[in-house]
Amino acid sequence: MATAIFPGSFDPVTNGHLDVIMRAAGLFDRLIVAVLHNPNKSGTFTVQERVGMLKCVCKPFAHVQVEAFPGLLADLAAQRDARVVIRGVRGAAELDAETAMAQVNGKLLPGLETLLLPAAPEWAGLSATLVREVAAFGGDVGKFVPPCAAQALQRHFSRQ
Ligand code: PNS
Repeated sequence: MATAIFPGSFDPVTNGHLDVIMRAAGLFDRLIVAVLHNPNKSGTFTVQERVGMLKCVCKPFAHVQVEAFPGLLADLAAQRDARVVIRGVRGAAELDAETAMAQVNGKLLPGLETLLLPAAPEWAGLSATLVREVAAFGGDVGKFVPPCAAQALQRHFSRQ
């Protein structure tokens, strides 16, 4: 069974992430969407909230699982017997960092390959950071994130 992992911060999941999830789900027998810690980013949603949003979004896809992992992506891949990491790339500016990550992950777990999927043009300018900014100022994020995430954003920023 070919298993791939799509790791990320997902703070929150966006339509760009969802597009990558659907495309990767079409390529593998099992896709694990994993909420991991990015030491360069501080979080808005808790890990549990992000997992909740992702589970809601991934419900239609029977072979897509969602989980959180507190450690290294390479360790999760080894534990789940996954040989492929999926990453979406929004443009040339992201390529160097993604290549470096792929190389380090391949050293940590020999044989672990990274498959870079170019973002669909309609989502290439979208990021969770921009979505959070729109939501924080009361803007309509319905065009940018799935309904489960839009509701969570609305709830989160109405509490602020
Ligand atoms: O959505 P992001 O923030 O671009 O995702 C980055 C993420 C979470 C995939 C990356 O920071 C990661 O893999 N973190 C887990 C820790 C790890 O394995 N670090 C080494 C990567 S070479």
